[in-house]
Amino acid sequence: MSANAQIIKTQVGIVGGGPAGLMLSHLLAKSGIENIVVEKRDHETIRTTHRAGILEAGSVKMLTDTGVNGRVLTEGMEHEGIDLRFNGESHRLNFPDLVGATVTLYPQNEVFVDLAAARKRDGGDVRYSVTDTEVLDMTTDTPKIRFTDSEGQLFEIHCEILVGADGSQGICKWAIPQEYRTDNFIEYPFAWFGILTEAPKSSDELIYANSPHGFALISQRSETVQRMYFQADPNEDASKWTEDQIWDELQKRVDGPDGFQLKRGPIFEQMILKFRSYVCEPMRYGNMFLAGDAGHTVPPTGAKGLNLALADVKVLFEAIDSYYSTKSKELLDGYSDRALKRVWKAQNFSYWMTNMLHTRKDANPFEVKRALGELQTVVSSRYGQQYLAESYTGWPHS
Ligand code: DHB
Repeated sequence: MSANAQIIKTQVGIVGGGPAGLMLSHLLAKSGIENIVVEKRDHETIRTTHRAGILEAGSVKMLTDTGVNGRVLTEGMEHEGIDLRFNGESHRLNFPDLVGATVTLYPQNEVFVDLAAARKRDGGDVRYSVTDTEVLDMTTDTPKIRFTDSEGQLFEIHCEILVGADGSQGICKWAIPQEYRTDNFIEYPFAWFGILTEAPKSSDELIYANSPHGFALISQRSETVQRMYFQADPNEDASKWTEDQIWDELQKRVDGPDGFQLKRGPIFEQMILKFRSYVCEPMRYGNMFLAGDAGHTVPPTGAKGLNLALADVKVLFEAIDSYYSTKSKELLDGYSDRALKRVWKAQNFSYWMTNMLHTRKDANPFEVKRALGELQTVVSSRYGQQYLAESYTGWPHS
């Protein structure tokens, strides 16, 4: 124990107050399991950090069925399909027809707002703006989280189960000694240039476009605000691009004989989003369990990141809940293997979508045409479409 540290005892200590940490905290509290969340960012920073926007049906159900609130149903936009566009032609995948499911466009920051509000409403203990967070004694019966709160007071949370839900930049996974974890990862030679624009919708549904100039994704936020991305160099300086250059680049990537035109408007945010594929195995060390981006990250194509985090949380919650009701650690012991099954499926899907839709700068004509052959295979076969639709809308939660 540190000198001057104020000790707080709880059952579950959670590092990270993003959607994964807050959803777990919410579920545990509903089950009468005490928990505390610590988060290094402040509420406003998380609320205004733009992330992906597509929720699988299972994620929507988690928000509504567990009593977070119903905003996702009133504010979210249900989408029944996507458009795969290549060779300048659109191919719509109809999800209800293919797999009997839909997705909902509801940005991750809104999910955070809902969860943070639910924790506040229900008297949850969530401490934002903490600094110097450390995790200790993970292999003992009393793992600890040490941190300094926003007022400068040093604390130690003594818990029984510690959860690392502190995202891809978090400290928890790095606290697992190297010999107890395997870091599986690959880098991609491209990034996304993302914009937010005040413009009417160019399309009612998402367009995933493969073009000779690279990938583009046309997404939405509301009737008046749109989100779009295009494949760019990871070292690109987004601030150097003028609005006209950005719009021309996006338009080039969706051009086709059908004359499809993006609806332009003022751009009020432009940024480069770098990505990689990463999985930490196992997602556990002693009595510390990793959930969400703390344990794995996927490239954004297909929007699996948040959905995967919520799926981890569901499995981890069931394991913790079972531990407190039966005193058996069986489900906790099985957590990592169980979560990793879905993680690797999502890794495969995100990798597949990314590579099929993006074009490497040094790609030769064979590789370019092979990818087009793959896209053609998907859209010309009901099985191919179903494979994409099933993965995109989300495999059933266990
Ligand atoms: C969005 C982001 C994605 O990565 C994706 O696959 C779909 C939508 C978005 O931000 O709207």
